[in-house]
Amino acid sequence: MSRFADQVVIVTGAAQGIGAATATEFYRGGAYVALLDKNDKVTELATTLDPTKKRLFPVVCDIRQEREVERAFRAASDQFGQLNVLVNNAGVCTLNLCVDLTEAEWDLVLGVNLKGMWLCTKHFLRLVGNGPGAIVNVASQAAKRAQKFTAHYSASKMGVIGLTRAVAVEAAPNIRVNAVSPGTIDTPMIQQEINWRVARGENEDSEAVKRHWFERIPLGRFQTPADIAKVILFLASDQASEITGDTINVSGGAVMD
Ligand SMILES: NC(=O)c1ccc[n+]([C@@H]2O[C@H](COP(=O)([O-])OP(=O)(O)OC[C@H]3O[C@@H](n4cnc5c(N)ncnc54)[C@H](O)[C@@H]3O)[C@@H](O)[C@H]2O)c1
Repeated sequence: MSRFADQVVIVTGAAQGIGAATATEFYRGGAYVALLDKNDKVTELATTLDPTKKRLFPVVCDIRQEREVERAFRAASDQFGQLNVLVNNAGVCTLNLCVDLTEAEWDLVLGVNLKGMWLCTKHFLRLVGNGPGAIVNVASQAAKRAQKFTAHYSASKMGVIGLTRAVAVEAAPNIRVNAVSPGTIDTPMIQQEINWRVARGENEDSEAVKRHWFERIPLGRFQTPADIAKVILFLASDQASEITGDTINVSGGAVMD
């Protein structure tokens, strides 16, 4: 399969979870992939996937820092000679009630999930000019479905949907901008939430947390990183050529709108 042959893709948060699965699928689809992450594990992943590193380029970068983002995007563009697709996937979540949230938590979550996404979008658009190109942002079911302990995270992910729509209007007609909204995926992020809920006594044990979540998912299971990656690749491909400004839920039916 080489539907992304000669395309250059940047994936943020590529060291693990959804980002690693997405970078891997683009690589398998023939793309040149720049793997951005604040964690140096991206270098390990790039070496494991492609020991020659001809089509993979790991870059360590904190997406909250504009200078680092500008440097990373320029390095990726210089390495491969062009840029075509940006997957804004890097994200963080802490859990706390709104009344107990600290300013540091708010700044971290909004800083990575929203400001970081904007900075990556800005420097991608500057280098891509009039395109053609595609951007896929990773939102969350938490944007649309209210739950306890995630006021800051939900606000950031609703912001992602707004950013997606606004940039889709500005970047048209040659650059499409869409979002994918995952449900619950078994990644380190979700393991952290399960442990937190058990430690806090919200649920008896990890199985109880999962049972509670499964009850709200019509398909009755977690999604996998590969499930999300498939939809990201679809939105980045020509098959989605008439879709822009939209958000696709990939939540097993937990969110329907
Ligand atoms: N796991 C889920 O259930 C779930 C559900 C809905 C949405 N999401 C979203 O999907 C995306 C990926 O989540 P995941 O579960 O794979 O998370 P994860 O924690 O497994 O991976 C996130 C990656 O982002 C990187 N990152 C964090 N801060 C960064 C920064 N400042 N600069 C650069 N990289 C940074 C981390 O190092 C990590 O490699 C996130 O945006 C998350 O909000 C996840």
